[in-house]
Amino acid sequence: MKQQTYRIQKVTSDQAMQDALAVRRAVFIEEQEVPADLEIDEHDRQGSGTLHFVAYNEQEPVGASRLRPYAPGVAKIERVAVLKQERGTGLGRQIMLAMEEAAKELGYDSLKLNAQTHAQRFYEKLGYEPHGDVFHEAGIAHIAMVKALR
Ligand code: COA
Repeated sequence: MKQQTYRIQKVTSDQAMQDALAVRRAVFIEEQEVPADLEIDEHDRQGSGTLHFVAYNEQEPVGASRLRPYAPGVAKIERVAVLKQERGTGLGRQIMLAMEEAAKELGYDSLKLNAQTHAQRFYEKLGYEPHGDVFHEAGIAHIAMVKALR
């Protein structure tokens, strides 16, 4: 597997937010054909409490994700995306670990996510466990997964 060095950062500027959204657009709207009005939602609004992440290869945005408050002690991971040409390099895992670090610093006890079933193994390798039945969202099969942080 080719190993790359990426820079993963919390989004703190308009430019970084545009970069994160560009990766999400390429992966979810263009590649997976998720409707644009579902891909961008109220949790992307400024002031919603969502923490966004963007990953760069040199100056090029190549990965993104977001972490948002979900329930007391629980944060939800969403929109984990790596551009097609960068997959299989460990970037997805690095993005997940960056979010886990941030969630711990914020005092969360556990993380929840709804995995597209094709990516279930990716999350299992990071310690997430499936819960409940498969359901469909935006025409894509999903399964809920959780991980305790402490
Ligand atoms: N199925 C099974 N295993 C997978 C996998 C998949 N779809 N994707 C990654 N893995 C494994 C890798 O083989 C690697 O295993 P290893 O530790 O034994 O070497 C490990 O998970 C980490 O992989 P990594 O290279 O960090 O993953 P990635 O950078 O390719 O990113 C996704 C994974 C899912 C984020 C990426 O494929 C993606 O963006 N897909 C499209 C968007 C998407 O579906 N997002 C998930 C929404 S829930």
